Amino acid sequence: MHLLILNPSQIITVNTKGIGYKRGNDLNNIESIKDHSIVIENDLIKDFIPNTSVKKNQFDEIIDAEDNIVLPGLVECHTHLVFSGSRADEFKQKLEGVSYEDISRSGGGINKTVNSVRETSFTELVNIASKRVQHFIKQGVTTLEVKSGYGLDFKNEIKLLKVINQLNDKFPIDIHSTFLGAHTIPKEFSSNRKEYIELIVNEMLPAINKEKLATSCDAFCESTAFAKDEVDLIFNKANELGLRCKLHTDQFNSIGGIDTAIKNNALSVDHLEIISDDNISRLSNIEMVCVILPGVSYFLNHNYAPVKKLVDKNAIIALATDFNPGSSNISNISFIMSLAAIKLGMSIEQIISAYTINSAKALNLSDKIGSLEIEKQADLSIYNTNDYADLIYQTTENLNIKTIKKGIIIFDKNGG
Ligand code: NIG
Ligand code: FE
Repeated sequence: MHLLILNPSQIITVNTKGIGYKRGNDLNNIESIKDHSIVIENDLIKDFIPNTSVKKNQFDEIIDAEDNIVLPGLVECHTHLVFSGSRADEFKQKLEGVSYEDISRSGGGINKTVNSVRETSFTELVNIASKRVQHFIKQGVTTLEVKSGYGLDFKNEIKLLKVINQLNDKFPIDIHSTFLGAHTIPKEFSSNRKEYIELIVNEMLPAINKEKLATSCDAFCESTAFAKDEVDLIFNKANELGLRCKLHTDQFNSIGGIDTAIKNNALSVDHLEIISDDNISRLSNIEMVCVILPGVSYFLNHNYAPVKKLVDKNAIIALATDFNPGSSNISNISFIMSLAAIKLGMSIEQIISAYTINSAKALNLSDKIGSLEIEKQADLSIYNTNDYADLIYQTTENLNIKTIKKGIIIFDKNGG
């Protein structure tokens, strides 16, 4: 199968020439090509050819992309989209001044969603989550990460991971499952947290590994959740089983999460709203990705992560929605990009790098996806504009007209 994307006004390649991430000044180099067309053979990018040398009869299919721009498929690297129920009541409490942490301490928050998820069947969870996956595909997402973490017992964590795997089978994009058994202490273990950690280490992780239900292991290092030594026990086991780690840390309190993540060679540290200058230095020039979640800061009216400092210190920055019912009930990527521009002070080019190659790096996939380079996977999205600034400037409009995964059109705004 030979596919040609003909004559887009710009191809934003985000080429890293084999490095697989962008940091520092390079975050701004999105490597745009003009007056070229893209040759795709089966699932791979084969060439970028000057429009003047295109021979249309050599292709099985041609997509006319005149007045459109092409980007690498977006990589959404941090979501909790398999959940049921609503936390609108807690949202109202928050508007009245009750904090997210206080809601959590009084038994609400994550544990409220856990109650609901435990009562929702596998099939119903697949149905609920499917609509959310479709929404991401429509926005140009070709790779998506989804975490468990609302089951918090053996049966329900496995159920959630199986839902995520089912979504991966059902949809043409790649959906990566992350085990987040250490999201919070479930209420039945509130007076015996050690036993819950033993359950994760001795029973959940081995079972998940045996059935290959997850590709990575996450935890929430926070005073309302897990301490660094507890995270360390879990990550040790995950690493022993060959699962890469990711960590929610430095959201409200800095309690040693960054060091624990570094010690365990984590793929990413996520949140970092209150990260200290010392910890920023620890993330300087290493290959662990800082996943920044401005939707959470907006939704909780909390600090925004100090992205400028992180960029200055040569940390690798990615962006994601953190879509979940409690701290970021936001699945609109354009809005997240807009927050990144306005509240984090990122340039449009930095934001594009952060949502493509660097978010691929946060999933350990940047050798295959995240940029448009010869022999990389033909995952791309086509936007109805000549100016990539519109992706962020047109915050409420979805400009994506085609999502292409492995050389196949999986979303087409105009039908077809
Ligand atoms: O990434 N920080 C912990 N986990 C989620 C929130 C989940 C929830 O409140 O349901 C987060 O913000
Ligand atoms: Fe999260």
